[in-house]
Amino acid sequence: MKNGRTQISELNENVDQQVNLSGWLYRGRAGGKVLFLVLRDGTGLCQCVVEKGKIPDETFEQLKHLGQESSLTLTGLVRAEERSVGGYELAVTDAKIICAADAYPITPKSHGIDFLLKNRHLHLRSQRQWCIGKIRHTIIDAIRRFYNDNGFTLVDTPIFTAMAGEDEQTLFEADYFGTPIHLTQTGQLHLEAAAMSFGKVYCFGPTFRAEKSKTRRHLTEFWMVEPEVAFIELDGLLELAENFVTSIIQRVLQDNPSQLETLGSDIEALERIKPPFYRLTYSQAAEILTGEKTKQFMAEQLQQLQNQKQQLESRKTEIEQQLKGQLKQWKKDKLSAELIDLNAELTEVDTKIENNPKHAQLAADFHWGKDLGGSDETIISLMHDKPIFVTHYPKQAKAFYMKADRENEKVVLNFDMLASSGFGEVIGGSVREDDYDLLVSRIEQQGLKPQNYEWYLDLRKYGSVPHGGFGLGVERTVAWITGEKHIRQCIAYPRLMDKVYI
Ligand code: 4AD
Ligand code: MG
Repeated sequence: MKNGRTQISELNENVDQQVNLSGWLYRGRAGGKVLFLVLRDGTGLCQCVVEKGKIPDETFEQLKHLGQESSLTLTGLVRAEERSVGGYELAVTDAKIICAADAYPITPKSHGIDFLLKNRHLHLRSQRQWCIGKIRHTIIDAIRRFYNDNGFTLVDTPIFTAMAGEDEQTLFEADYFGTPIHLTQTGQLHLEAAAMSFGKVYCFGPTFRAEKSKTRRHLTEFWMVEPEVAFIELDGLLELAENFVTSIIQRVLQDNPSQLETLGSDIEALERIKPPFYRLTYSQAAEILTGEKTKQFMAEQLQQLQNQKQQLESRKTEIEQQLKGQLKQWKKDKLSAELIDLNAELTEVDTKIENNPKHAQLAADFHWGKDLGGSDETIISLMHDKPIFVTHYPKQAKAFYMKADRENEKVVLNFDMLASSGFGEVIGGSVREDDYDLLVSRIEQQGLKPQNYEWYLDLRKYGSVPHGGFGLGVERTVAWITGEKHIRQCIAYPRLMDKVYI
C-alpha cells in the first residue's frame, strides 16, 4: 500500500499497486452489483469500479446514491485499462466520503451560457473549462519563456494611467484621489520608454477597454503581452511575431495533446503553423475582399453551411424518434444532452447563414481607407491555411503613434496578424513614429492634446531611434488554438459589457 495521496496523473507509475485517490465525483453509474464512479482530482479523470461485497454494504449503498461533485477518497488497486478514460482504472477496496453534495446545479446535461456564467465558480470544474484552463496555462508559460529566452527584459507597466494609448472611446475612468484618470488600455507607451533603456522589453498584464460590443472577440478586461524593441523595422517585427506565435503553438502541441483532443481542436491545422506566415498589404487585402474570388468563396461557404444544417437537422429528427421509444435512463440523458447541443449548433449555423449575404455585401462594398471589420477579417482568415500579416493600413484608420511610411505617407508601417481558420485578429502592432514634429502633428490631427503626451514626446527628443512592437491578446490566442468560439470561455472570470457576475 502506498501511503498518502496519489494523483490521477501519476497512475501510470502505480500500476498493480494499492493507492488512495482523493477528488470529486465527476459522474457515477450503477450497474446492478457494480458501481462505476468517475473521479476527478484536478490532474485527470479515473474510472473507479466498486464491486458489491468488496467493501462494506453500507458504504456501497452510500456510494450508490452519492451526488455529482461530492468529495471523497477512494482506495484500491490500479489496473491498466485501455478502454477507460485516461487508460487506468481503480478496483476499489475502501471509500471515505468527505462531503456529500446534493443536487449539484450543473448536471451533465447542457445548459445555456447565461446560466453557466452565473455559475462560473462551479462551471470551472467542467472538463471543457479544465482543458481550456490547462492550455491557457501552457500558453502563458510559453509566452514568458519565449521572451526570457530571447534577451527581452520584463518591465511591468502601470494599470492606472493618465493618457490614452488607444481609442479614447474605450477608456474606463477611475477617480484617483480626485483626479480623473483611467485604467490602462495598453502598456505600449510606457514600454517604449523602457525600450530606450533595455533595448528589448516586454510587459504582460491585464488591460481594460470599455468595449460596448458584445462580439465573441471582445472582453472589457483581457490579458495582453506586448514586446517592444529598439532598432527594429517592420520586417523584423513580422519575423519576431511569427517565431513567437509558432513557439506558443509548438508548446501547446507538445504539452497538451490530450486536452486539444478532448476539445476537438483542429490539430492538423495547428501543426501547419510554421514560418513564414502569409504577408498581404492592406491594399491587397482590400482587392481580395472586393474581388470575384471572394464572391465565389462566400457562395461556397453558404452552400457548405446549408449542407451542415441539413445534416444537423436529420440527426435531430433521428434523436427525437429514438427518444420516443423505450430507453434506459442514462441513454435518454445522453441523447437529450446531444439534442441540446444540436439545437445550439443549429442556431449558430442559422446565424451564419443569415449573416453570409450581409458579410459578402460588406466585403464587396469595401473601399480603401476603411479599417478592416470583424467580418472582413474572418473572410480573409478563412481563405488562408496559416496566419496572415496584413500590413500598411491607411493612416486615417489607425492610432496616432504608428509611423508613416516615408515612401507612401498615406499608409503606416503597421500590421495586424489574422489567425487562420476564420478566427481573425490576434495581434496588432507597428513601427512607432520616431520624428518629434510628425508625432506632434499626428497627436493634434487625432484631436488629442500634445501637452498630455509630454513625457512620451521626450523620447523623440533624447536619442530617438526606430523602434516598434506589438500586442498579442491572450484570450483570443487561447480561443483560436482551442477552437473555442467565444473568448469569454478563455479566461476563468470573464468581464463582459453586461456581465460581471463573479
Ligand atoms: O490592436 P490592439 O488594440 O493594439 C494595441 O493595444 C497596441 N498598443 C499593442 C502594441 O503595439 N504594443 O490590441 C492588441 C491585441 C489585439 O490584436 C487583440 O488580440 C487583443 O489585443 N484585444 C482584445 N482582446 C480581447 N478583448 C478586447 N476588447 C480586445 N482588444 C484588443
Ligand atoms: Mg487592433
